[in-house]
Amino acid sequence: MYSDTYLRSLEDPNGFWAEAAEAIDWVKKPRSILDDSNPPFYRWFSDGELNTCHNALDRHVADGRGSQVALIYDSPVTDTVEKITYVELLERVALFAGGLRSLGVGKGDRVIIYMPMIPEAVVAMLACARLGAIHSVVFGGFAPKELAIRIDDAEPKVIVAGSCGIEVDRVIEYKPLLDSALEIARHQPDRCVIFQRPQAAASMVPGRDVDWKQLVETAEVADCVTVGATDPLYILYTSGTTAIPKGVVRDNGGHAVALRWSMSNIYDVHPGEVYWAASDVGWVVGHSYIVYAPLLTGCTTVLYEGKPVGTPDPGAFWRVISDHGVSSLFCAPTAFRAIKREDPEGNYARKYDLSSLRSLFLAGERLDPDTYHWASDLLGIRVIDHWWQTESGWAIVANCLGIEEMVVKPGSSSKPVPGYDVQILDGEGNRLGAGEEGLVVVKLPLPPGTLPTLWHDDDRFVDSYMSTFPGYYLTGDGGYIDEDGYVFVMGRVDDVINVAGHRLSTGAMEAVLADHPDVAECAVIGIADELKGQVPLGFAVLNAGADRDASELQDELVQMVRDQIGAVASLKRILVVKRLPKTRSGKILRRIMRSIVAGEEYQVPSTIDDPIVLDEIAGSVQTLE
Ligand code: COA
Ligand code: AMP
Repeated sequence: MYSDTYLRSLEDPNGFWAEAAEAIDWVKKPRSILDDSNPPFYRWFSDGELNTCHNALDRHVADGRGSQVALIYDSPVTDTVEKITYVELLERVALFAGGLRSLGVGKGDRVIIYMPMIPEAVVAMLACARLGAIHSVVFGGFAPKELAIRIDDAEPKVIVAGSCGIEVDRVIEYKPLLDSALEIARHQPDRCVIFQRPQAAASMVPGRDVDWKQLVETAEVADCVTVGATDPLYILYTSGTTAIPKGVVRDNGGHAVALRWSMSNIYDVHPGEVYWAASDVGWVVGHSYIVYAPLLTGCTTVLYEGKPVGTPDPGAFWRVISDHGVSSLFCAPTAFRAIKREDPEGNYARKYDLSSLRSLFLAGERLDPDTYHWASDLLGIRVIDHWWQTESGWAIVANCLGIEEMVVKPGSSSKPVPGYDVQILDGEGNRLGAGEEGLVVVKLPLPPGTLPTLWHDDDRFVDSYMSTFPGYYLTGDGGYIDEDGYVFVMGRVDDVINVAGHRLSTGAMEAVLADHPDVAECAVIGIADELKGQVPLGFAVLNAGADRDASELQDELVQMVRDQIGAVASLKRILVVKRLPKTRSGKILRRIMRSIVAGEEYQVPSTIDDPIVLDEIAGSVQTLE
């Protein structure tokens, strides 16, 4: 029963997670389960030793799963389907690990991976894990400046990149983006390993750049390097409220235990089944549910290089499910909204045999009730909203199908997952009652697999998450818990927005706009969008004397954001205004601006400098179509 399991996880975390840890192959089995001696820096399995790659590959080959397909690469954009067995994936990973080792990569070294959705991205991640090196995958849609920020923070010894990505029918060359990033970055890697794709040949910098294929031709296979459970497996940068992203650290032991547990208990997916997370390896969903969790479980994972629509049509997802016998699909609600927009009657779905599909999990943004009903009516299977974050690495609130299927309440991601003591607090830290909306927090300790800290920045870890309410992790989301214990997450309460399932910082966009010579000051807020959930909207105040055509200026600003953050930011509209609403101390009232755009009621704060500005903003918003 869910309630018993949940209670036990909070009352006896040591017993609960020690049991879950039995599913992992340890080099040295942990005797210490939860180390709570230095809050808020909790550590799991601190005296345990293991290798994550061994658990994802070698152990399955040893257990007789070698000829099972580990990874299906399905790429409508290159018209390729490739099936790689556990034995083959292990060979490729061990060889590439040997290649990386020959370039000097060892335990604790960082390797940045800037790759499209090709098997080599997964091979590179697992090869790092094999060596005890720390990978940091940067989403291919990020522009050079964002990549450079991550290079400077992670200080990689080696960068692994693909020559290009393919966006539907457009080839996006990655290598020039990498080269520009390295021109901006202070830190320089020793080497860059480039995987040349036939769609674009990258030019190589002699002495620095190494061809992937040549590297593995001469490499010797590398064995797994034993690491401590609390040694970092990866760093994944995610948007915070400032322009500088946060380097979320993931450890090896807690991560392996939690993800393996989640596959059986949350997703109800078991060894040998085909599991598909239609995300990107550059996001946390890709890390956890394209790569690690399915492979730790001995599943077949699908790596899909395509879109929900346009590659070639809104039947793309159904084709993949039926071709590969997918039993559980995980994607962002925006993908379903995109399919629904092009095929509202669901005619494409009816063309395929979807009988293998037992469940659909959605996350990345709130699952709006309309999309929930459309998907569940169309598919007639369990449609599960679950809420989590890069920081947690796995679900915080979910309908745990493997424990006990709960009645769905559309709009809610159901109940807290075992291990997470989710509560709602008001601004002063008082616990709120059923139905009262406030800040969503998790009482410490967080369970295994969640972030132990931020890369080289314990202070920011404490400031961002742990200091507002000592003893609680601040999620950054707002919401409420109803009288039945169902959690409703309503959206971020900070300056983070979710655009088509991509997490972005409005602060980072503001920093770009503020760089324009004609912009005196600016604000970027998230507004509702039917397809993408949210999109950014910019407001710019011009310098005195700057007499600019608004549409020309908008084009320049939009281009700057595309060049410096990436097209994924999807900033398309910037309104030129005379002033921004501010408090007397100069703080921009972004929350009120959001309410004005949404047409919601708001209270004019007593600290406002000049309330007339709100009318000016409302007037300019009316020009939006
Ligand atoms: N590399 C380079 N550019 C990329 C990119 C990548 N990996 N991913 C996206 N982009 C570009 C797109 O080409 C597009 O560029 P454009 O403005 O020049 O057309 C821009 O970034 C915005 O892309 P996207 O957010 O994908 O919007 P879209 O309008 O092309 O497609 C959806 C809309 C809903 C189909 C698409 O956003 C989608 O599939 N979303 C799901 C995302 C997801 O799975 N997130 C993971 C969370 S679990
Ligand atoms: P990311 O770190 O990219 O996974 O983004 C995390 C943020 O996405 C969360 O803080 C939420 O704001 C939002 N989010 C993710 N899943 C959900 C969900 N199921 N319901 C509501 N919001 C979600």
